Amino acid sequence: MTTKRTGRSAAKSAPSLHPHVLVMHGPNLNLLGSREPRHYGLATLDDINRALVGRGETAGAHVETFQHNHEGALIDRVHQAARDHVDFIVINPAAYTHSSIALRDALAATAIPFVEVHLSNIYARESFRHHSYFSDLAVGVVSGLGAHGYELALEYALRHLQNRTPHGSQKTEKAH
Ligand code: DQA
Repeated sequence: MTTKRTGRSAAKSAPSLHPHVLVMHGPNLNLLGSREPRHYGLATLDDINRALVGRGETAGAHVETFQHNHEGALIDRVHQAARDHVDFIVINPAAYTHSSIALRDALAATAIPFVEVHLSNIYARESFRHHSYFSDLAVGVVSGLGAHGYELALEYALRHLQNRTPHGSQKTEKAH
């Protein structure tokens, strides 16, 4: 498991105008770099997280990363994100994409907007990977672009959050 915080103070109790983004990685993604590189590439999870945290710092955002192999820990982390007033989640639920109604329900319960990311193109693989319990709740899905997909999802989140008014609501025009 990795939990990393950067930017401002770790414990937050009130909403802030600084974008707060949580990047979540599901089971087996701690093995990136050596795990089936033909599907998942050679970048390690640390490589990916470092790039995302660095991008957050440049943008004046608070980017945290979290990986866990257990469903309950991921669910608890989503609940914590709501208490921390996380503005946006980037999540690769990994194999839980195809099985976890419980993790889906946690995201639905918190109503934190999220982008679903997959390193591989799940639609070009085995049929059991074609169904996601998350995609219909997600703001968007990035699948098949490797580690770059996380960066694109974070860029989207940062743009989306820059469009906030001082009261935390969104301006009416879309961030695309
Ligand atoms: C994955 C795709 C899933 O089907 C798989 O179980 C993973 C990783 C991806 O990033 O491509 O663990 O989410």
